[in-house]
Amino acid sequence: MRLGGKVAIVTGAGSGIGRATSNLFAREGAKVVVADIEQSLGRETVEEISKNGGTAIQAVVDVSKADEVRTMIKTCTTNLGKLDVLFNNAGIEGSGGSLWKMKEDDWNRVIDVNLKSVFLGCKYAIPHMKKTKGSIINTASELGLVGSTSRPAYSASKGGIIALTRSLALQCAPYGIRVNCICPGATETPLLIRFVGERQRQRKLREVTREIPLRRLGKPTDIAYAALYLASEESSFVTGSVLVVDGGSTAR
Ligand SMILES: NC(=O)c1ccc[n+]([C@@H]2O[C@H](COP(=O)([O-])OP(=O)(O)OC[C@H]3O[C@@H](n4cnc5c(N)ncnc54)[C@H](O)[C@@H]3O)[C@@H](O)[C@H]2O)c1
Repeated sequence: MRLGGKVAIVTGAGSGIGRATSNLFAREGAKVVVADIEQSLGRETVEEISKNGGTAIQAVVDVSKADEVRTMIKTCTTNLGKLDVLFNNAGIEGSGGSLWKMKEDDWNRVIDVNLKSVFLGCKYAIPHMKKTKGSIINTASELGLVGSTSRPAYSASKGGIIALTRSLALQCAPYGIRVNCICPGATETPLLIRFVGERQRQRKLREVTREIPLRRLGKPTDIAYAALYLASEESSFVTGSVLVVDGGSTAR
């Protein structure tokens, strides 16, 4: 078991990449805090893990709210005794269109849910992780590395996560805590479906796929296995890294 004896928090664990990672972490021996804003989605993930013989507890949390994030960390340490792995993964795509037409509230929400959440998660987790010399993994995006024609605020939030990951890796290294991020490319989840929109969805997904050098979309498990590597001792010399999992899209 690659995560035997570890305790992990996964945010955005009710769907897509977070659900796949929660299941994988549990299969590899971790006890998992399934954290999501949507209670029913989180419950489904907990049930999947329990059905497969794993251990999981639920935390209903809006990752953009300081008091709720603090409570999530407390739920973990109180019920499972410690915290080894924090996967800051929850994210939203926000509204699309030209930046100059974007409402200020929409901008704030994307930055708060995607970027401020990483600050809050780390702020409240790190005091506990100093004891476990744990691993923090942040979900950025290929759109943190290149521009987005449809969603500049999303792109900015993900670029911010990459920069924050590097700085935090430097600040945490003396404590033996590692901090890395993953940049997924287009991955088959509800977020991607919302990203391309309702109209002519199948055609747009075919277009997206054609642009990917490996000629397929990512699967949530593709990202989950990257997170598993970064969570495990196998990556014990890896910190401040940006692991791109995008089928080659940003290699051009
Ligand atoms: N799917 C892709 O193509 C893709 C590509 C690059 C990066 N990402 C990133 O991967 C991460 C996971 O996305 P996904 O594709 O699995 O999306 P998803 O929509 O399937 O899952 C996201 C989960 O986050 C939860 N969530 C949303 N806002 C929250 C909040 N404020 N507090 C707590 N939970 C909240 C949702 O309820 C949902 O369960 C996101 O950070 C996303 O930006 C996805």
